[in-house]
Amino acid sequence: MQSRRIGDVRVSAIGLGGMPMSIEGRPDEDRSIRTIHAALDAGITLIDTADAYHIGADEAGHNESLIARALAAYGGDTSGVLVATKGGHLRPGDGSWTVDGSPDYLKQACEASLKRLGVDAIGLYQHHRPDPRVPYADSIGAIRDLLDAGKIRLAGISNANPQQIREAQEILGGRLVSVQNQFSPEFRSSEPELELCTELGIAFLPWSPLGGIQAAGSLGGSFARVAGRYGVSPQRVCLAWHLAKSPVSIPIPGASRPETITDSAAADTLELTAEDLAELP
Ligand SMILES: NC(=O)c1ccc[n+]([C@@H]2O[C@H](COP(=O)([O-])OP(=O)(O)OC[C@H]3O[C@@H](n4cnc5c(N)ncnc54)[C@H](OP(=O)(O)O)[C@@H]3O)[C@@H](O)[C@H]2O)c1
Repeated sequence: MQSRRIGDVRVSAIGLGGMPMSIEGRPDEDRSIRTIHAALDAGITLIDTADAYHIGADEAGHNESLIARALAAYGGDTSGVLVATKGGHLRPGDGSWTVDGSPDYLKQACEASLKRLGVDAIGLYQHHRPDPRVPYADSIGAIRDLLDAGKIRLAGISNANPQQIREAQEILGGRLVSVQNQFSPEFRSSEPELELCTELGIAFLPWSPLGGIQAAGSLGGSFARVAGRYGVSPQRVCLAWHLAKSPVSIPIPGASRPETITDSAAADTLELTAEDLAELP
């Protein structure tokens, strides 16, 4: 698998998004473990998670614990796997998503994630989403403190606009390594953030890169046409399109089945021609 850079760490160019294995519609644990192991077998070394990937109010960190169990149960070497988690979103149990960006909350959430992941320092910790009730500088100040204290090895942000990316980079003293925003063929509003990350050399992790859990299976149009020429899935073409968009792009397709992540992982070997790319949006 081709690699790309997040800070000073090299990871597989395609990551695994853990969300579908822990939210509404999730599979049983056995299938989830097989999905994570299939990702590792395929050479994936970046796993994206969050403390908020769960359903019930009493099961915060469901996805982090699942990933920790899957890594522990894997037969091979997992020392090169970067687990990227997040703090700042909550799920009160009624299906909604809320935010808390207060420094005290973020520090407490990070401690809980450390315990669930069973590590001394989190590989990549991402501030999940700006909280309109808390100055952004205060939330990112907490992330800086966690970095300075050695609780997290790398710092990232998510759902940020260009101004917030620049502000975070300044508060972190140039140590911002990643930005995770929604970006897919159908959802293009983060084009300016992708451009800024490319300019600054910061990794850009498109979330819902296939259009999201509901839409991913029905990717058609030009993606299906190009896919037909290579005899591959439209989803694989879509991920190759992400890789071709920028050298800092590292898509994190979600999966809840071994076969989908195995198919997605092969996107790094699909070289789209200029003609293919001209046909895609
Ligand atoms: N930072 C944020 O605010 C934020 C928000 C949302 C998501 N995320 C992250 O981004 C990740 C990806 O987003 P997402 O899961 O919402 O959407 P997505 O990656 O666009 O789509 C996920 C769905 O695509 C299907 N899929 C994946 N590869 C496929 C393939 N090769 N062929 C056919 N179907 C395929 C999976 O099906 P199966 O389930 O059948 O395997 C899965 O349910 C999440 O898992 C999460 O880690 C972050």
